Amino acid sequence: VSFGILIVAAGRGERAGSSSEGPKQYRLIGRKPVIAHTLQRFLDWAHSGPIVVVIHPDDQDLFDQSVPAEASGLKIRTVYGGPTRQASVLNGLEALVSHGVSHVMIQDAVRPFVSERLLERVFDAHQNGSDAVLPAIPVADTLKRGSADGLVQETVSRTGLYAAQTPQSFAFAPILAAHRAAATSGITDFTDDASIAEWAGLPVELVEGDADNIKLTLARDIELAHEKIMSNTL
Ligand code: C5P
Repeated sequence: VSFGILIVAAGRGERAGSSSEGPKQYRLIGRKPVIAHTLQRFLDWAHSGPIVVVIHPDDQDLFDQSVPAEASGLKIRTVYGGPTRQASVLNGLEALVSHGVSHVMIQDAVRPFVSERLLERVFDAHQNGSDAVLPAIPVADTLKRGSADGLVQETVSRTGLYAAQTPQSFAFAPILAAHRAAATSGITDFTDDASIAEWAGLPVELVEGDADNIKLTLARDIELAHEKIMSNTL
């Protein structure tokens, strides 16, 4: 097996609510930009093969400044993303075709706390025969469906519900085929890759996610991540 690593970083991060400070994957947490932390986790992992980072064309300089010199070797290649996460992932998958990998792990740049333990759990699920692996954690909150005017419509049972994380990991050929088919069908709004696998009829195995593997979505998340790193290193 050889694992291509695909890191999507082409989003504009509008929900972080601070466009003046740039996309959240380039914001500093601790002493490094978010994306440098995420990349380091994969550079440190024994099973990582070629790494493709999908960036926004406007961010080339930001990326070049953000990625540490020791990381900018032959292993990392950048390609440009598209208007949706789904389009960005497809561009990254196409860039990996020539590398001949058997598997691909697809990771959000904005999840810098992905651990080696989690990567190993995902890897082990493939070793045990899975072609599609999703780390996820059981939903802890009580869930409500709300109406547009701000009233609770109903309570949704959380039994059997999980919050999906990344890396989501796949045998390369079937996820590439599924992504190409989704694009050809004109479907553009899948928000993760497991949902494309599900749509294509590929069984997706759930493995235990990691509560620390948070997605930095809001400005507050960046502040918390910064504090977390500073308290660990001081
Ligand atoms: O928008 P969302 O929070 O789902 O973004 C998740 C990840 O997908 C982020 O790392 C973001 O940079 C990436 N993304 C992308 N191309 C887009 C939109 C999001 O690579 N067009």
